[in-house]
Amino acid sequence: MSTKPVVVYGASGYTGRLVCEFLRQYNVPFTAAGRSTATLTESMDSHVPGIETADYEVVETEHTVAALTDLFQGSSVVLNTVGPFMKLGDPVVEAALAAGAHYLDTTGEQDWLIHCDEEFGARFAAAGLLIAPGTAQMYTTGEIAAQIALETPGLDTLDIAVFWGGSPTIASTRTILVNAAGGAAYHLEQNEYVPFDPAQGLVPLIVPGQHELAQSLPWGGTSHPVWFKRDPRVSTCKAQGGVFDAALMQNVPVIVADALEATKDMTPDERDAALDAVAAQVMSSMPPRENRRTHKSLDSVHASGPLGRAHVVIHGNNNYQQTGLLQAYAAYSLLQRAPHRVGLASACQAFGHRELEGVLRSFGFISPPVVTVAQ
Ligand SMILES: NC(=O)c1ccc[n+]([C@@H]2O[C@H](COP(=O)([O-])OP(=O)(O)OC[C@H]3O[C@@H](n4cnc5c(N)ncnc54)[C@H](OP(=O)(O)O)[C@@H]3O)[C@@H](O)[C@H]2O)c1
Repeated sequence: MSTKPVVVYGASGYTGRLVCEFLRQYNVPFTAAGRSTATLTESMDSHVPGIETADYEVVETEHTVAALTDLFQGSSVVLNTVGPFMKLGDPVVEAALAAGAHYLDTTGEQDWLIHCDEEFGARFAAAGLLIAPGTAQMYTTGEIAAQIALETPGLDTLDIAVFWGGSPTIASTRTILVNAAGGAAYHLEQNEYVPFDPAQGLVPLIVPGQHELAQSLPWGGTSHPVWFKRDPRVSTCKAQGGVFDAALMQNVPVIVADALEATKDMTPDERDAALDAVAAQVMSSMPPRENRRTHKSLDSVHASGPLGRAHVVIHGNNNYQQTGLLQAYAAYSLLQRAPHRVGLASACQAFGHRELEGVLRSFGFISPPVVTVAQ
C-alpha cells in the first residue's frame, strides 16, 4: 500500500521521472511505482534532479488489478505513464477506481480516450472521481489554444495543427506506429465521428512561423475530436500533425505500410511483438534530456463560424517536460480542491485552460498565445 497521496506508475520511464521531478518542485509527496525496484531506484537517483530533497518512496508491483488496487489504497491520485494504454491501461484504471483514486495518464491515443469514455467515464463520475487520460503536451497544449479560440462566441469549427521537433522515446515511437497501423482515426463532423481515409497519405499544411510547407498525418486522430464531441459550442473538429522534419514525415507512411504488410497475417500477440521490433529499429535507446533549442512544439488552431474567425498559435518547447509539469500540477491541484468535472474530462475541462496556460508559461515552456480575432 502506498503511504503517499500520489502514485506515479511507470516512474522509471522517460516521462515518469519527469513527472517525479515536477512533483518535487510542487512539494508533493509521491510513490514511484513500477515493475522493478532496481530500475526505479536507478531512475530516481540518476535522472531526477533534486531527488534527494523529495518526499518519496519506491514500490515494485505486478501489473494486475489486484496488486495495483492494493498499491493505490491510501492514495488520492494515480498518474499513469505505462503505455501503450490501449494495451496496458485497463488494469490501472480498474485499480484506481477500486481504490477510490483520481486517474490521469499521458496517452496520445484516440482509441484509448474513446474506450475510457465508454467503459469508465460513467463509473468514475458515479464515484465522484476524475478520469483524465491525455493530461500531456499532446494534446493539452493544443487544447489550450482551441479553448482560447472558443472564448470568441459563435465559432463552431476547429481546424487544428499539432507539430513537434525532437526525438520521440521508445514508447512514443511504438505508440505512433500502433496508432498509425492500428485502425480508425476519427475527426468530428457535425458532432459525429468520421474516420479519416486510411489511404489519404501526407497532407501539406501551412503552419505559422515557417515558409516551408509542413507535412501532416492524422496522427491517430488526436484527442481533440473526443474532447469536443460533447462541447455544445463545437460541431466539427479536425486535427492533423506530426514532426517538423519533413523528410522523417515522408518516411512514416512507408514504415507503417511496411509494418502493416509484414504483420497482416499475424495473431494480435505476434503483431504486437513485431510492432515492438519495428519501433525498436526506429528508436532503440532512451533519448537524452530535452534541449529547448531543438525540442519545440507548435499548436495552431483556426476556429470558424458562420460570421467569425479566430486563430490561436502557441509556440512551446521541451514537450516531454511540459507533460511532466502538467501531470504534477494536476495532482497538486487535486490534492487541494475538486476538479471542475468528474468522470471523463480533458485536463482543460478539469482544471481550466487559462490556469494550465499560466502553469506552462510560468515554467518557460510556452510563449504567450498569439491570438487573432476577426468578426
Ligand atoms: N501525449 C504526450 O504528449 C505524451 C508525452 C509523453 C509520453 N507519452 C506516452 O506515455 C507513455 C510513456 O512514455 P515514455 O516516453 O515515458 O516511455 P518509456 O520511457 O518507455 O517508459 C515506459 C514506462 O512503462 C513501464 N512499462 C512498460 N511496459 C510495462 C509493462 N508491461 N508493465 C509494467 N510497466 C511497464 C516501463 O517500465 P521499465 O522501466 O521497467 O521498463 C517504464 O516505466 C507512452 O505511451 C507515450 O506515448 C505521451
